[in-house]
Amino acid sequence: MPLIATVEATPNIAVVKYWGKRDDKLILPQEGSQSFTLDSLKTRTTVMFSSEFKEDEFWLNGKKVDLNDKEVAERMQQLDVIRKKAGIALKARIVSINGFPTAAGFASSASGLAALACAASKAAGLNLDSKELSILARLGSGSACRSVVGGFVEWHKGVKADGSDSFAETLFPPEHWPELRLLSAILAEGKKKVSSRAGMKQTVATSVLYQARLASLPKLMQEMREAVKNKDFAKFAELTMRESNDLHSVMLDTWPPITYLNDLSKQVIYAVHELNAGNEVKAAYTFDAGPNAHIYTLEKYVPEIKKMLEGIEGVQKMIVSKVGHGPKYLTDESEHLIDPATGEVRKHYYDENANKIVVG
Ligand code: DP6
Repeated sequence: MPLIATVEATPNIAVVKYWGKRDDKLILPQEGSQSFTLDSLKTRTTVMFSSEFKEDEFWLNGKKVDLNDKEVAERMQQLDVIRKKAGIALKARIVSINGFPTAAGFASSASGLAALACAASKAAGLNLDSKELSILARLGSGSACRSVVGGFVEWHKGVKADGSDSFAETLFPPEHWPELRLLSAILAEGKKKVSSRAGMKQTVATSVLYQARLASLPKLMQEMREAVKNKDFAKFAELTMRESNDLHSVMLDTWPPITYLNDLSKQVIYAVHELNAGNEVKAAYTFDAGPNAHIYTLEKYVPEIKKMLEGIEGVQKMIVSKVGHGPKYLTDESEHLIDPATGEVRKHYYDENANKIVVG
Protein backbone atom coordinates (compact mmCIF):
# COMPACT_ATOMS: atom_id res chain seq x y z
CA MET A 1 0.00 0.00 0.00
CA PRO A 2 1.45 3.38 -0.98
CA LEU A 3 1.90 5.83 1.89
CA ILE A 4 -0.38 8.56 0.59
CA ALA A 5 -3.22 10.74 1.93
CA THR A 6 -5.22 13.73 0.73
CA VAL A 7 -6.99 16.25 2.91
CA GLU A 8 -9.00 19.42 2.34
CA ALA A 9 -8.95 22.05 5.07
CA THR A 10 -10.45 25.54 5.33
CA PRO A 11 -9.40 28.85 6.91
CA ASN A 12 -10.73 30.20 10.18
CA ILE A 13 -11.47 33.81 11.13
CA ALA A 14 -10.80 34.68 14.75
CA VAL A 15 -13.13 36.76 16.91
CA VAL A 16 -10.60 36.85 19.74
CA LYS A 17 -7.27 37.13 17.96
CA TYR A 18 -3.91 35.53 18.51
CA TRP A 19 -1.20 38.18 18.44
CA GLY A 20 2.09 37.43 20.18
CA LYS A 21 4.14 34.38 21.06
CA ARG A 22 5.84 33.27 24.24
CA ASP A 23 7.93 30.73 22.29
CA ASP A 24 8.92 31.50 18.69
CA LYS A 25 10.08 28.00 17.77
CA LEU A 26 7.20 25.95 19.18
CA ILE A 27 4.72 28.73 18.34
CA LEU A 28 3.23 29.05 21.80
CA PRO A 29 0.93 32.05 22.21
CA GLN A 30 0.87 34.70 24.93
CA GLU A 31 -2.88 34.16 25.31
CA GLY A 32 -5.73 31.99 24.04
CA SER A 33 -7.85 32.84 21.00
CA GLN A 34 -11.23 31.93 19.50
CA SER A 35 -12.45 31.54 15.93
CA PHE A 36 -14.97 29.97 13.60
CA THR A 37 -13.72 27.48 11.02
CA LEU A 38 -15.25 28.23 7.61
CA ASP A 39 -16.94 25.76 5.27
CA SER A 40 -15.50 27.15 2.03
CA LEU A 41 -12.15 28.34 0.59
CA LYS A 42 -10.60 24.89 0.70
CA THR A 43 -6.93 24.03 0.41
CA ARG A 44 -6.32 20.49 -0.89
CA THR A 45 -3.05 18.80 0.05
CA THR A 46 -1.71 15.38 -0.91
CA VAL A 47 1.31 13.92 0.88
CA MET A 48 3.14 10.80 -0.23
CA PHE A 49 6.16 9.14 1.40
CA SER A 50 8.28 6.85 -0.75
CA SER A 51 11.70 5.23 -0.85
CA GLU A 52 11.81 6.36 -4.51
CA PHE A 53 11.98 10.02 -3.51
CA LYS A 54 15.51 11.36 -3.10
CA GLU A 55 14.52 14.53 -1.25
CA ASP A 56 11.48 16.28 0.19
CA GLU A 57 9.54 18.20 -2.44
CA PHE A 58 6.75 20.74 -2.08
CA TRP A 59 4.51 22.02 -4.87
CA LEU A 60 2.14 24.88 -4.08
CA ASN A 61 -0.43 26.10 -6.63
CA GLY A 62 1.52 24.41 -9.42
CA LYS A 63 4.92 25.85 -8.50
CA LYS A 64 7.83 24.13 -6.79
CA VAL A 65 8.68 25.76 -3.45
CA ASP A 66 12.29 26.01 -2.22
CA LEU A 67 12.41 24.00 1.00
CA ASN A 68 15.83 25.48 1.82
CA ASP A 69 14.24 28.88 2.28
CA LYS A 70 14.48 29.58 6.04
CA GLU A 71 10.86 30.61 6.53
CA VAL A 72 9.52 27.70 4.49
CA ALA A 73 11.74 25.26 6.41
CA GLU A 74 10.49 26.64 9.72
CA ARG A 75 6.88 26.22 8.65
CA MET A 76 7.49 22.64 7.51
CA GLN A 77 9.10 21.50 10.78
CA GLN A 78 6.08 19.29 11.50
CA LEU A 79 7.22 16.93 8.74
CA ASP A 80 10.23 15.74 10.75
CA VAL A 81 8.12 15.47 13.90
CA ILE A 82 5.69 13.22 11.99
CA ARG A 83 8.51 11.05 10.57
CA LYS A 84 9.93 10.62 14.06
CA LYS A 85 6.56 9.69 15.55
CA ALA A 86 5.93 7.18 12.73
CA GLY A 87 9.47 5.77 12.86
CA ILE A 88 10.10 6.37 9.16
CA ALA A 89 12.95 8.10 7.35
CA LEU A 90 11.29 8.29 3.92
CA LYS A 91 11.26 11.50 1.90
CA ALA A 92 7.95 13.21 1.20
CA ARG A 93 6.32 14.72 -1.86
CA ILE A 94 3.74 17.35 -0.92
CA VAL A 95 1.34 18.87 -3.44
CA SER A 96 -1.04 21.60 -2.34
CA ILE A 97 -3.53 23.82 -4.14
CA ASN A 98 -5.90 26.51 -2.98
CA GLY A 99 -9.46 26.05 -4.23
CA PHE A 100 -9.99 29.80 -4.32
CA PRO A 101 -8.36 32.67 -6.21
CA THR A 102 -4.95 33.45 -4.69
CA ALA A 103 -5.70 37.11 -5.20
CA ALA A 104 -8.79 36.80 -2.99
CA GLY A 105 -6.77 38.26 -0.16
CA PHE A 106 -7.27 35.25 2.07
CA ALA A 107 -4.40 33.99 4.13
CA SER A 108 -4.09 30.38 3.06
CA SER A 109 -1.51 29.49 5.70
CA ALA A 110 -4.09 28.30 8.26
CA SER A 111 -5.91 25.99 5.83
CA GLY A 112 -2.64 24.90 4.18
CA LEU A 113 -0.77 23.98 7.33
CA ALA A 114 -3.81 22.30 8.88
CA ALA A 115 -4.23 20.21 5.71
CA LEU A 116 -0.51 19.34 5.81
CA ALA A 117 -0.67 18.13 9.44
CA CYS A 118 -3.66 15.90 8.69
CA ALA A 119 -2.44 14.56 5.32
CA ALA A 120 1.21 13.99 6.32
CA SER A 121 0.38 12.18 9.56
CA LYS A 122 -2.21 10.00 7.82
CA ALA A 123 0.17 9.18 4.95
CA ALA A 124 2.83 8.20 7.51
CA GLY A 125 0.38 5.68 8.96
CA LEU A 126 -0.38 7.62 12.14
CA ASN A 127 -3.93 7.88 13.44
CA LEU A 128 -3.71 11.01 15.56
CA ASP A 129 -6.54 12.59 17.51
CA SER A 130 -7.54 16.22 16.97
CA LYS A 131 -5.43 17.45 19.89
CA GLU A 132 -2.26 15.91 18.43
CA LEU A 133 -3.13 17.20 14.95
CA SER A 134 -3.71 20.68 16.34
CA ILE A 135 -0.28 20.65 18.00
CA LEU A 136 1.36 19.57 14.72
CA ALA A 137 -0.44 22.25 12.69
CA ARG A 138 0.56 24.84 15.30
CA LEU A 139 4.23 24.18 14.54
CA GLY A 140 3.60 25.50 11.01
CA SER A 141 1.47 28.52 11.90
CA GLY A 142 -0.30 29.39 15.13
CA SER A 143 -3.70 30.10 13.57
CA ALA A 144 -3.52 26.76 11.67
CA CYS A 145 -4.01 24.86 14.94
CA ARG A 146 -7.59 26.18 14.99
CA SER A 147 -8.36 24.88 11.46
CA VAL A 148 -7.95 21.18 12.34
CA VAL A 149 -11.36 21.25 14.00
CA GLY A 150 -14.74 22.72 13.02
CA GLY A 151 -17.36 25.02 14.53
CA PHE A 152 -16.58 27.57 17.23
CA VAL A 153 -13.03 26.84 18.29
CA GLU A 154 -10.80 27.87 21.17
CA TRP A 155 -7.01 27.61 21.17
CA HIS A 156 -5.93 27.02 24.76
CA LYS A 157 -2.69 28.88 25.33
CA GLY A 158 -1.31 26.19 27.65
CA VAL A 159 1.39 26.72 30.25
CA LYS A 160 3.86 23.91 29.60
CA ALA A 161 7.23 24.71 28.04
CA ASP A 162 7.00 21.80 25.58
CA GLY A 163 3.65 23.02 24.15
CA SER A 164 1.83 19.76 24.90
CA ASP A 165 -1.13 21.66 26.38
CA SER A 166 -1.33 24.37 23.70
CA PHE A 167 -3.95 23.16 21.21
CA ALA A 168 -7.36 24.03 19.81
CA GLU A 169 -10.69 22.30 20.34
CA THR A 170 -14.30 22.74 19.28
CA LEU A 171 -16.50 24.41 21.88
CA PHE A 172 -19.67 24.40 19.75
CA PRO A 173 -20.22 22.45 16.50
CA PRO A 174 -21.40 24.22 13.30
CA GLU A 175 -24.98 23.03 13.95
CA HIS A 176 -25.10 25.11 17.12
CA TRP A 177 -25.55 28.40 15.25
CA PRO A 178 -26.51 27.47 11.67
CA GLU A 179 -27.67 31.01 10.79
CA LEU A 180 -24.24 32.53 11.32
CA ARG A 181 -22.47 33.76 8.17
CA LEU A 182 -19.19 35.43 7.36
CA LEU A 183 -19.12 37.97 4.57
CA SER A 184 -15.57 38.75 3.53
CA ALA A 185 -15.02 41.93 1.56
CA ILE A 186 -11.83 42.01 -0.44
CA LEU A 187 -10.55 45.58 -0.44
CA ALA A 188 -6.98 45.14 -1.57
CA GLU A 189 -4.82 42.60 -3.28
CA GLY A 190 -1.15 41.89 -2.96
CA LYS A 191 1.28 40.94 -0.26
CA LYS A 192 1.20 42.83 3.03
CA LYS A 193 4.20 44.90 4.08
CA VAL A 194 4.63 43.42 7.55
CA SER A 195 3.93 39.70 8.00
CA SER A 196 1.87 38.59 11.02
CA ARG A 197 4.89 36.74 12.30
CA ALA A 198 7.17 39.79 12.26
CA GLY A 199 4.43 42.20 13.33
CA MET A 200 3.37 40.33 16.46
CA LYS A 201 6.98 39.89 17.55
CA GLN A 202 7.47 43.64 17.31
CA THR A 203 4.26 44.30 19.27
CA VAL A 204 5.30 42.00 22.14
CA ALA A 205 8.69 43.75 22.28
CA THR A 206 7.54 47.38 22.11
CA SER A 207 3.85 48.03 22.77
CA VAL A 208 2.87 49.42 26.18
CA LEU A 209 -0.86 48.88 25.52
CA TYR A 210 -0.21 45.20 24.78
CA GLN A 211 0.03 44.40 28.51
CA ALA A 212 -3.47 45.80 29.08
CA ARG A 213 -4.73 43.73 26.14
CA LEU A 214 -3.28 40.53 27.60
CA ALA A 215 -4.83 41.27 30.99
CA SER A 216 -8.28 41.76 29.43
CA LEU A 217 -8.36 38.67 27.19
CA PRO A 218 -9.36 35.91 29.69
CA LYS A 219 -12.52 37.83 30.69
CA LEU A 220 -13.29 38.64 27.08
CA MET A 221 -12.98 34.97 26.08
CA GLN A 222 -15.37 34.01 28.87
CA GLU A 223 -17.91 36.60 27.64
CA MET A 224 -17.47 35.41 24.07
CA ARG A 225 -18.13 31.78 25.07
CA GLU A 226 -21.35 32.92 26.77
CA ALA A 227 -22.48 35.04 23.81
CA VAL A 228 -21.90 32.19 21.35
CA LYS A 229 -23.52 29.66 23.69
CA ASN A 230 -26.65 31.87 23.95
CA LYS A 231 -26.50 32.84 20.26
CA ASP A 232 -26.73 36.43 21.46
CA PHE A 233 -25.76 38.19 18.23
CA ALA A 234 -25.83 41.75 19.64
CA LYS A 235 -23.45 40.82 22.45
CA PHE A 236 -21.29 38.71 20.13
CA ALA A 237 -21.07 41.60 17.66
CA GLU A 238 -19.99 44.16 20.23
CA LEU A 239 -17.33 41.86 21.69
CA THR A 240 -16.03 40.99 18.22
CA MET A 241 -15.76 44.58 17.00
CA ARG A 242 -14.24 45.89 20.23
CA GLU A 243 -11.68 43.08 20.12
CA SER A 244 -10.72 43.85 16.52
CA ASN A 245 -10.34 47.53 17.40
CA ASP A 246 -8.25 46.64 20.44
CA LEU A 247 -5.93 44.51 18.31
CA HIS A 248 -5.46 47.27 15.75
CA SER A 249 -4.79 49.75 18.58
CA VAL A 250 -1.88 47.70 19.89
CA MET A 251 -0.61 47.36 16.33
CA LEU A 252 -0.56 51.15 16.08
CA ASP A 253 1.05 51.33 19.53
CA THR A 254 3.87 49.09 18.27
CA TRP A 255 7.16 50.87 17.60
CA PRO A 256 7.65 51.56 14.74
CA PRO A 257 3.84 51.51 14.30
CA ILE A 258 2.09 48.91 12.18
CA THR A 259 -1.08 49.76 10.27
CA TYR A 260 -2.97 47.12 8.36
CA LEU A 261 -6.27 48.98 7.95
CA ASN A 262 -6.65 51.36 5.02
CA ASP A 263 -9.22 54.07 4.26
CA LEU A 264 -11.62 51.53 2.78
CA SER A 265 -11.40 49.38 5.91
CA LYS A 266 -12.36 52.44 7.94
CA GLN A 267 -15.28 53.18 5.63
CA VAL A 268 -16.54 49.64 6.27
CA ILE A 269 -16.22 50.18 10.03
CA TYR A 270 -18.30 53.36 9.89
CA ALA A 271 -20.88 51.80 7.56
CA VAL A 272 -21.35 48.84 9.93
CA HIS A 273 -21.88 51.15 12.91
CA GLU A 274 -24.39 53.17 10.91
CA LEU A 275 -26.26 50.00 9.97
CA ASN A 276 -26.24 48.78 13.57
CA ALA A 277 -27.58 52.11 14.83
CA GLY A 278 -31.07 51.05 13.74
CA ASN A 279 -33.35 48.76 15.77
CA GLU A 280 -31.18 45.70 15.51
CA VAL A 281 -27.49 44.85 15.54
CA LYS A 282 -26.91 43.18 12.18
CA ALA A 283 -23.19 43.00 11.56
CA ALA A 284 -19.81 42.64 13.27
CA TYR A 285 -16.57 43.49 11.48
CA THR A 286 -13.23 41.97 12.33
CA PHE A 287 -9.85 42.58 10.67
CA ASP A 288 -6.74 40.39 10.67
CA ALA A 289 -3.26 41.50 9.62
CA GLY A 290 -4.58 43.14 6.45
CA PRO A 291 -7.17 45.63 5.20
CA ASN A 292 -9.86 43.13 4.14
CA ALA A 293 -13.06 43.24 6.17
CA HIS A 294 -14.56 40.06 7.58
CA ILE A 295 -18.14 40.67 8.63
CA TYR A 296 -19.99 38.18 10.81
CA THR A 297 -23.74 38.39 10.37
CA LEU A 298 -26.89 36.26 10.32
CA GLU A 299 -28.28 34.65 7.17
CA LYS A 300 -31.31 36.98 7.05
CA TYR A 301 -29.09 40.09 6.93
CA VAL A 302 -26.72 38.93 4.17
CA PRO A 303 -28.53 40.81 1.33
CA GLU A 304 -28.53 44.01 3.36
CA ILE A 305 -24.83 43.74 4.21
CA LYS A 306 -24.03 43.02 0.55
CA LYS A 307 -25.94 46.13 -0.46
CA MET A 308 -24.10 48.17 2.12
CA LEU A 309 -20.74 46.97 0.77
CA GLU A 310 -21.77 47.54 -2.84
CA GLY A 311 -22.24 51.18 -1.87
CA ILE A 312 -18.58 51.49 -0.94
CA GLU A 313 -16.42 52.22 -3.95
CA GLY A 314 -13.31 50.01 -4.00
CA VAL A 315 -14.84 46.81 -2.65
CA GLN A 316 -13.51 44.33 -5.19
CA LYS A 317 -15.14 41.07 -4.25
CA MET A 318 -17.42 39.52 -1.63
CA ILE A 319 -17.33 35.96 -0.39
CA VAL A 320 -20.01 34.47 1.86
CA SER A 321 -19.10 31.51 4.09
CA LYS A 322 -20.90 29.37 6.63
CA VAL A 323 -19.32 27.71 9.63
CA GLY A 324 -17.68 24.42 8.65
CA HIS A 325 -16.77 21.02 10.08
CA GLY A 326 -13.00 21.12 9.70
CA PRO A 327 -10.69 18.99 7.55
CA LYS A 328 -12.02 16.31 5.25
CA TYR A 329 -10.04 13.21 4.24
CA LEU A 330 -10.54 12.42 0.55
CA THR A 331 -10.41 8.68 0.11
CA ASP A 332 -11.30 8.38 -3.57
CA GLU A 333 -8.07 7.49 -5.38
CA SER A 334 -8.85 9.90 -8.24
CA GLU A 335 -8.81 12.89 -5.87
CA HIS A 336 -5.11 12.58 -4.93
CA LEU A 337 -2.87 15.26 -6.45
CA ILE A 338 -0.13 12.61 -6.78
CA ASP A 339 -0.47 9.33 -8.68
CA PRO A 340 -0.16 6.67 -5.97
CA ALA A 341 1.20 4.12 -8.45
CA THR A 342 4.03 6.21 -9.89
CA GLY A 343 4.53 9.05 -7.38
CA GLU A 344 4.18 11.57 -10.25
CA VAL A 345 2.47 14.90 -9.61
CA ARG A 346 -0.86 14.80 -11.42
CA LYS A 347 -2.00 17.67 -13.60
CA HIS A 348 -4.28 19.80 -11.46
CA TYR A 349 -5.75 23.30 -11.38
CA TYR A 350 -8.40 25.44 -9.78
CA ASP A 351 -11.34 26.19 -12.08
CA GLU A 352 -12.56 29.58 -10.86
CA ASN A 353 -15.81 29.53 -12.86
CA ALA A 354 -16.87 26.13 -11.55
CA ASN A 355 -15.22 26.92 -8.20
CA LYS A 356 -13.61 23.50 -7.99
CA ILE A 357 -10.26 21.78 -8.02
CA VAL A 358 -9.78 19.70 -11.17
CA VAL A 359 -7.38 16.73 -11.17
CA GLY A 360 -6.14 14.87 -14.24
C1 DP6 B 1 -4.10 38.45 12.92
O1 DP6 B 1 -1.01 32.33 12.58
O2 DP6 B 1 -0.31 33.76 10.61
O3 DP6 B 1 -4.71 36.43 11.83
O4 DP6 B 1 1.94 31.76 14.05
O5 DP6 B 1 3.51 33.40 13.05
O6 DP6 B 1 2.32 31.80 11.57
P1 DP6 B 1 2.27 32.61 12.84
O7 DP6 B 1 1.10 33.69 12.69
P2 DP6 B 1 -0.36 33.55 12.08
O8 DP6 B 1 -1.06 34.85 12.75
C2 DP6 B 1 -2.42 35.09 12.65
C3 DP6 B 1 -2.73 36.43 13.19
C4 DP6 B 1 -4.14 36.93 13.02
C5 DP6 B 1 -5.01 36.59 14.22
C6 DP6 B 1 -5.61 35.21 14.32
O9 DP6 B 1 -5.86 34.54 13.31
O10 DP6 B 1 -5.87 34.82 15.47
